[in-house]
Amino acid sequence: MTDRYAVFGHPIGHSKSPRIHAAFAEQTGEAIDYTAIEAPVADFAAAWRAFVAAGGRGANVTVPFKQEAFALAEVLSPRARLAGAVNTLMLGRDGKLYGDTTDGVGLVRDLEAHAAPLVGARVLLLGAGGASRGVIEPLLEAGVASLTVANRTVAKAEALAALFADKGEVSGCGFDDVAGPFDLVINATSASLAGDLPPLPAGLFAAEGLAYDMMYAAEPTVFLRWAAEQGALSVDGLGMLIEQAAESFWLWRQVRPDTVPLRELLRREL
Ligand code: ATR
Repeated sequence: MTDRYAVFGHPIGHSKSPRIHAAFAEQTGEAIDYTAIEAPVADFAAAWRAFVAAGGRGANVTVPFKQEAFALAEVLSPRARLAGAVNTLMLGRDGKLYGDTTDGVGLVRDLEAHAAPLVGARVLLLGAGGASRGVIEPLLEAGVASLTVANRTVAKAEALAALFADKGEVSGCGFDDVAGPFDLVINATSASLAGDLPPLPAGLFAAEGLAYDMMYAAEPTVFLRWAAEQGALSVDGLGMLIEQAAESFWLWRQVRPDTVPLRELLRREL
């Protein structure tokens, strides 16, 4: 039987993951079947069990199930533990359910693909939800000098920064208190989804500073348009999506796909 994989979410209709993994499978010659499954919001665990009974070997997990997947996993990777979330599940040869997260490494790989200066960089991270939490440790590991978490709800930024205080120069504040310059500003809020712009002061970017939005769309997000007006270079999150998928594929199959052709293909299809 062909090994089955899937992405679980709710809603899941517009997910690009089946397209990405089908392309990875074709490119690497791995015989896998990858589908999108819309699990009921109230019972992710039952949907996962049904999938395993039907030959499921592993899955990607997206909104709103990353915490449920974290709770379901029997063995958590250190990076999943730090992120407090799981986006990749896999059944081990020992029959145990392993949980990992590839979002943070996906972001760092995409930043590296864009030649972003990470070593010694002063980084501003906008937002203090799950998306932010998942990328802090990978950014620190990549060698950034300082990381400021800014959020609309200031207490959440402070609490998140405190979680990582022993791992590097991490602080939390509100949008009003943000003081640049920054070499890299990452938007991990969900504001772009609603077409909103976090209320940021002008003059945030250092010379040749880079703006990164974890969201992506056919047109630049409102945050990236604002950043371009500020003179920053800008990159959207399409590459992060592809890189996190590649890392999941590697975890499942021990084969690393080439992401470059996918970047070009998916950009054309946006
Ligand atoms: P995720 O897991 O995607 O990070 P989340 O946990 O709901 O989702 O977090 C969403 C983040 O976007 C939060 O930091 C939220 O700010 P609050 O903590 O103050 O709610 C932020 N956010 C959402 N809409 C926003 C907006 N219009 N302007 C600024 N920040 C916004």
